[in-house]
Amino acid sequence: MTGVVIVTGAGGAIGEAVCKAFAAAGHQIVAIDVRRPDPMGDDTIFVDIDLNRYCLDPEYRDTSNARLHDAVRGRHLAALINNAAVQIVKPSAALTTDDWSRTLNVNLLAPFLLTQELLDELTASHGAVVNISSIHAMQTKPEFVAYATSKAALNGLTRSLAVDLGGRVRVNSISPAAIDTPMLREGFAGQEKLLDQLGQMHPAGRIGEPGEVAALTVFLASDATAFMTGTDIALDGGIGARLRDPL
Ligand SMILES: NC(=O)c1ccc[n+]([C@@H]2O[C@H](COP(=O)([O-])OP(=O)(O)OC[C@H]3O[C@@H](n4cnc5c(N)ncnc54)[C@H](O)[C@@H]3O)[C@@H](O)[C@H]2O)c1
Repeated sequence: MTGVVIVTGAGGAIGEAVCKAFAAAGHQIVAIDVRRPDPMGDDTIFVDIDLNRYCLDPEYRDTSNARLHDAVRGRHLAALINNAAVQIVKPSAALTTDDWSRTLNVNLLAPFLLTQELLDELTASHGAVVNISSIHAMQTKPEFVAYATSKAALNGLTRSLAVDLGGRVRVNSISPAAIDTPMLREGFAGQEKLLDQLGQMHPAGRIGEPGEVAALTVFLASDATAFMTGTDIALDGGIGARLRDPL
């Protein structure tokens, strides 16, 4: 059944693709971000919420919740997509408590608090929560300690919420490997050869596309996956299965 889908981080590259895919499937989008999505679908309702402040400031959270409920306005809430994230890349020695707090708030606590706040609406509509995690939940690299830890915990949250909520609301996550976004490309500016190499390291021979994350998100929120909950799906071009050895 179509209805309202709430997407956090809707102003980012993957968020934009997710909003587009749900809108194409006939859903009304409620977009959450600190920046206005651009482009934004005609029917999209934008609710600017800073998810870090949402976790820290109870008064701000109450006001934001009221705006969110108003945006849903008693309609069928088909899904909550927790896609917003911050990624702080630093060596361990330089990570501050503020880095940790911001990362854990936006990437982990906000998905929980939003699910908790929307539980009545999600329960009434047999809705779904899809958490956009990362390959970093399982495999990481230097300087990703806070981000990778938050994503590992997000996968833990996915499992534990699924168990706790039982048949009321399904909760699943997606763990993408490298996805071709402007931010990823910026990181490889002037080193396009390395970006090609990154693609070749994936058994699929390339990195992923935002639309591929979006399509899987729509699938996980649909009735086709009604028996699926507490699961994480790797969307990684096979890199998670690839054994790296010198032979
Ligand atoms: N791009 C990749 O290669 C990749 C790979 C694996 C997983 N992911 C995951 O996909 C998701 C989307 O990533 P993306 O590449 O589109 O990143 P992005 O940075 O383009 O988008 C993230 C969005 O979250 C928003 N956001 C950040 N802090 C916020 C806050 N305090 N309050 C509200 N909104 C806030 C940002 O404004 C931004 O629009 C993230 O969860 C990320 O971890 C991305």
